[in-house]
Amino acid sequence: MSLTNTPDPEIRARAVKQDLDNVLHPLVQHRALEKSQTVITGAHGSTIRDADGTELLDGMAGLWCVNIGYGRVELAQVAAAQMEQIAYYPHTAMNLPAATLAEQINTLMGGGYHVYFVNSGSEANEAGFKIARQFYRNDRPTERRSKTIGRYFAYHGTTLATLAAGGQGDRKAKFEPMAGEFLHVAQPNCYRCPFGLEYGSCKLACVKNIENTIQGEGPETVAEVIVEPIMSGLGVVVPPDEYLPEVEKVCRRYGVLLHVDEVINGFGRTGKAFAHQHYGVKPDIIAVAKGISSAYMPIAATVVRNNVFDAFLGEAQDMRHIIQVNTYGGHPAAAAVAVRNIEIMEEEKLFDRSAEMGQYLMDGLKTLLRHKSVGDVRGKGLLLGVELVKDKATKEPVDNATIQGVVDGCRKLGVIVGRSNGGRAGGMTIALSPPLIITRAECDRIVDALDRTISAIG
Ligand SMILES: Cc1ncc(COP(=O)(O)O)c(C=O)c1O
Repeated sequence: MSLTNTPDPEIRARAVKQDLDNVLHPLVQHRALEKSQTVITGAHGSTIRDADGTELLDGMAGLWCVNIGYGRVELAQVAAAQMEQIAYYPHTAMNLPAATLAEQINTLMGGGYHVYFVNSGSEANEAGFKIARQFYRNDRPTERRSKTIGRYFAYHGTTLATLAAGGQGDRKAKFEPMAGEFLHVAQPNCYRCPFGLEYGSCKLACVKNIENTIQGEGPETVAEVIVEPIMSGLGVVVPPDEYLPEVEKVCRRYGVLLHVDEVINGFGRTGKAFAHQHYGVKPDIIAVAKGISSAYMPIAATVVRNNVFDAFLGEAQDMRHIIQVNTYGGHPAAAAVAVRNIEIMEEEKLFDRSAEMGQYLMDGLKTLLRHKSVGDVRGKGLLLGVELVKDKATKEPVDNATIQGVVDGCRKLGVIVGRSNGGRAGGMTIALSPPLIITRAECDRIVDALDRTISAIG
């Protein structure tokens, strides 16, 4: 199936009227929606289509999630077949699609894990916090380990606990005070080192900061450290290669669990099945979502290493079992779609393709460094960032209007690009996370659109 760009004025008019009268949208200001709306009516490959006939190359794979690309009709057929057989039953019982999916994920992780199914990345991290706390209650009842250490400027989700674990003040401000027991350390951002140090002579002050925090809090109170290997929301910040192995060592030294957020990073996004695999670490808790089903169905999971899982074993009266439930976890239709999604990734070797096309796109983006407002180009696989500055020497970030101008300018040229959340310590970064099936010609279009819009700002 390919796209036709015939406008659907009737669909557009009905959707806009019903939407404006009834829908509360996330993040966007409704006054702006009254003036301009995007009504999506179709998509194929890496291209989405608006009801007015406009086609856009989606350099963000939706919200960093449509890894296998749009328009895979086969997945609709898988969902329909599964729903005809058994659409739903709670996951206190077993079902074949969820069991198959768990086995696929465990295999991709290298074995030694069990998988708890939820519905979103936020829930996957939230379940991870609870599993970490309950692990210690079960395993070492005399200890009171309940603290989670996260990093400033990280994003781990939208629920109150995941917001608290994240480190983005502007997302939290209207909801404070936050839940307790979430602490923060400095982010590993070498382009803008929070300690003002240079990579090479810094002795990984960012890791030392984690150890110092564990020591200061008292190791016997700290349950886990949560990290997103490549910090997408901060502006696709890639840590030095030694960072994650050193963080793992600190966790092991103090008996603290390592919780890795692979919600964006996972399922091929960075050129391997999971980003932590670039660094040879073996996390205790891993949150996965988005690419698990390429967003064809809402499904996510908290993956738990067997050393943690074993602490949940016992007789029913021991109350060691995982004390939580969610209605839709392990949903057979969602799981069946995710199973086929992962098979497609394997058949089409999309993890390798992400590495290869990511390098191609990175090479193209590096040519943008000739512009005086491009300070840094970085990334791994098809997760890439282009940081914009007023001045390369001082690294002063461009202002909000300038980066938004680049995003809007690309859109006028038919290309969707993302952007980091804000200036502050993160800088202003154009984010790219296209479907893993993106072609070379499409990568060239992204680079060309950025080239033209960035030329306009100097
Ligand atoms: C790193 C990270 N963790 C967690 C989440 C939360 O996932 P969800 O929006 O599915 O709840 C996101 C969402 O973008 C994310 O980027």
